[in-house]
Amino acid sequence: MSLPATPLTERLGCRHPIIQTAMGWVSDAKLVAATTRGGGFGFLAGATIPPEALEAEILKVIELTGSRCFGLNFHMFQSNAAECVELAIRHRLRAVSYGRGPDAATVARLKAAGVLCIPTVGAVKHAIKAEAMGADMITIQGSEGGGHTGSVPSSILLPQVLDSVTVPVIAAGGFSTGRGLAAALAAGAAGIAMGTRFLMTTDSPTPASTLERYLAVRDPARVKVSLAVDGMRHRMIDNAFIRRLEGAGPLRRLLIALRSARRWQRDTGMSHRQALGILWRALREDPATLAQTVMAANQPVLLQHSMVAGQAEAGILPSGQVAAAIDRLLGADELIATIVDDAERCLERLCQGRDHGAVAAPATTEVK
Ligand SMILES: Cc1cc2nc3c(=O)[nH]c(=O)nc-3n(C[C@H](O)[C@H](O)[C@H](O)COP(=O)(O)O)c2cc1C
Repeated sequence: MSLPATPLTERLGCRHPIIQTAMGWVSDAKLVAATTRGGGFGFLAGATIPPEALEAEILKVIELTGSRCFGLNFHMFQSNAAECVELAIRHRLRAVSYGRGPDAATVARLKAAGVLCIPTVGAVKHAIKAEAMGADMITIQGSEGGGHTGSVPSSILLPQVLDSVTVPVIAAGGFSTGRGLAAALAAGAAGIAMGTRFLMTTDSPTPASTLERYLAVRDPARVKVSLAVDGMRHRMIDNAFIRRLEGAGPLRRLLIALRSARRWQRDTGMSHRQALGILWRALREDPATLAQTVMAANQPVLLQHSMVAGQAEAGILPSGQVAAAIDRLLGADELIATIVDDAERCLERLCQGRDHGAVAAPATTEVK
């Protein structure tokens, strides 16, 4: 039995109802191209690609795939958010995704240009608002998902949102298998979106030392939610850096934040004047949360330590709890094919009323 076409495959123009989500320093042109070639739909992580390199990264995906069947992720708080909108329109990308999204007029402009708007939400009220703002589809991310995440698990959030909006809904947070895809489709979702599972592929740019850290997680409880980085719920693998941050008092936390900010200032070539300006604004807004504000501002650098430099204990390791269920790296194309295959068999068994037997495990691939 083949998987049915869904609004996701029809509107995004991909073969399979599987999205590779945007992950800072991870979802680059190579990973997006590998996803596209495998029949899925990939999003470039526009929040961490330097503004001056973003257009080249978009052109690289087009060159590698001969297609514009991919998307760009960005957030309105980025300094180059307006440019992200312009680039998506200029290069006729199929979709954009975002958390804190653009206003209704910008959403309307994107839609008029043929760019589908697919926000990610973690609560029903945000899904209702996103639809009112013009979203074409909505990705729900359950609390088990990686990075910034809400507090409602996918199994509760998905049916709630399906009952509350009329646009197609994509399920994210905790997915990695064909069983998960079959369950989401059966519940009424248009497909699934996965972050952590695509991070843990041989097409991900993540250094081997950091991937080893993800593969070593066996207990989902070790992938915890912390508020210590920026005051928001952030799911990540428990490591030395986050423990140090959580264990520190307010002053020590500020020192850790400032030390990290100094490195950030050096790495980004920011002048003392600019850095002091950020500090001054943070102080005026709320001195009590100064450490948090500084930490939030240099979050890309915290991520860079682990995701680019391979220093898994020196930065943050955003991850979904599903990392604990993943024990091997696959190529993105092999991953998509395996998930589709398994989902088809699940649905076949369901339709024929057969026993729920085991699905074969995919072949092992060495850590690169
Ligand atoms: C390492 C990492 C980085 C992430 N960075 C971003 C980001 O830059 N923008 C964004 O919208 N979501 C980001 N996310 C969230 C993912 O796009 C996705 O919604 C989430 O991983 C889905 O849950 P899963 O990990 O259980 O598949 C990130 C997640 C991870 C694991």
